[in-house]
Amino acid sequence: MNARKVYMDYNATTPLHPEVKESMRRGFELYANPSSMHEFGRTVRNQLELVRQRIAEFIGAGPEEIIYTGGGSESNNTVLKMLTCALCGGAELSPGRAEIITSAIEHPSIIQTAQHLVSMGNTIHFVKVDRNGKVDMNHFLELISERTALVSIMYANNEIGTIQDIQSLAEIAHRYGALFHTDAVQAVGKIPVDVERLGADYLSFSAHKFYGPKGIGVLYARKGKPYYPFIHGGHQEGGRRAGTMNSLGIIGMGSAVELIKAEMQEIEERLLRLKQRLRSGITERIPDITINGHPEDSLANTLNVSFHGAEGEAVLLYMDLQGIALSTGSACSSGSLEPSHVLLATGVGPELAHGSIRFSMGRETTEDEVDYVLEVLPAVIKNVRKMSTVYSGECK
Ligand SMILES: Cc1ncc(COP(=O)(O)O)c(C=O)c1O
Repeated sequence: MNARKVYMDYNATTPLHPEVKESMRRGFELYANPSSMHEFGRTVRNQLELVRQRIAEFIGAGPEEIIYTGGGSESNNTVLKMLTCALCGGAELSPGRAEIITSAIEHPSIIQTAQHLVSMGNTIHFVKVDRNGKVDMNHFLELISERTALVSIMYANNEIGTIQDIQSLAEIAHRYGALFHTDAVQAVGKIPVDVERLGADYLSFSAHKFYGPKGIGVLYARKGKPYYPFIHGGHQEGGRRAGTMNSLGIIGMGSAVELIKAEMQEIEERLLRLKQRLRSGITERIPDITINGHPEDSLANTLNVSFHGAEGEAVLLYMDLQGIALSTGSACSSGSLEPSHVLLATGVGPELAHGSIRFSMGRETTEDEVDYVLEVLPAVIKNVRKMSTVYSGECK
């Protein structure tokens, strides 16, 4: 085992900020059910409502527009299902409009929910993206119509970091009378997010992507816009999301919001410099590579690189042996490799998509860590390329 440890998988999740940890430690004392009417309960409830206020301010919303959920996946499921599923009341929410438009590069919590909804008889269109992962506006304009109930486009992509022009997309959706949702899970905490400026009717985000706890997130739902609960069984969140409130998670998320609000700009400026160092270091040291994602409209922390002729999973495992945690878009399951749907959608061929690695950095990443990656990576790629020519791309 290697003594040196470098975590470069911040888009998968982030470590808790030390002060978030502290706030949660204190939060353990607030054990009463926040829905209870006694003083114990009221004390907790007051805390959670203060956090709601803080979160609302952070994204330019009103507190009544913030719904606590179990994270990004739940928020995304809620929006897509409520506007399509006739059994869930969706048909009444958008009379005469039954179609959804989403993109081909969304997170599985959107793509697979959409596929499920198609299997239930709904019509969902997947808008194409260009080579840099930007929504193809011409295709979007071809798909949108008076039948569109909802447009759901992610703000920033988790694999390649591309940032969409949400403002324009929402504006077009509204011109056609459709509602607009954005999965902002990879955006909140990395770039400024303001629901008014964006014009979003719904917006999802998740605390564990910005140094908060896992299993807690938010669905922003604009006041006056249709809403139907995904989880029934209680009056929590004004009847919009049943279940005893996750007090500890909410306290942690509140603290994470407060901290990231103060630190975001400094972190992002530093990460942009680190990304430039990593990108030019890789380009100088390793031949036959392709950088994926938009050259400018991209998250400062995310770099996605295809190494021609190298198997991504093998690179990942060799880097892991050197103590470096990275990620690949491919999923190695049941002995077969599924190339990343995101890269395929941008026009990267399956072979190149298999050889792609995501480097995602965060507030604790240092220049020294980037240099360590640059020191280790060239030899790993060389070895894996050599191996790949011997064992042609099997995953066991
Ligand atoms: C873009 C995007 N959307 C949604 C999710 C799901 O969020 P959660 O893990 O909170 O369910 C993720 C997590 O990886 C993500 O990157």
